[in-house]
Amino acid sequence: MNDRWHKIGHLHDIPPLGARCVLTPFGRIAVFRTADDALYALEDRCPHKDGPLSQGIVHDTSVTCPLHNAVIALASGEMSGPEGGRTRTFDVRVDPASQAVELSLEPRSAEFVRPDRPLAAAE
Ligand code: FES
Repeated sequence: MNDRWHKIGHLHDIPPLGARCVLTPFGRIAVFRTADDALYALEDRCPHKDGPLSQGIVHDTSVTCPLHNAVIALASGEMSGPEGGRTRTFDVRVDPASQAVELSLEPRSAEFVRPDRPLAAAE
């Protein structure tokens, strides 16, 4: 393992169709597990109004925000619908030998974008 990857637990710590959160310098990151054991890591903040995505409902490769039902694509962090918006995504992987979940803290998509603000004003 090089410095890019950080062990954050084991695959069995994350329930299928669920999520677990990790506190990082980038804020709280939610690691989601789909029904077919794919993992995705996103900032735990909905682009709409900061809803906790880790408490949403995972379906296929998306999560529905628990606050106002926006659907966020787990792979891209993009919020569906005409308003747009995006939460940051991170790389995550499983060590095949140990089943350890490893998270990269280099954001894959660097910008958090709210649908109601221009990109330059996004946080
Ligand atoms: S905060 Fe997520 S849909 Fe409103």
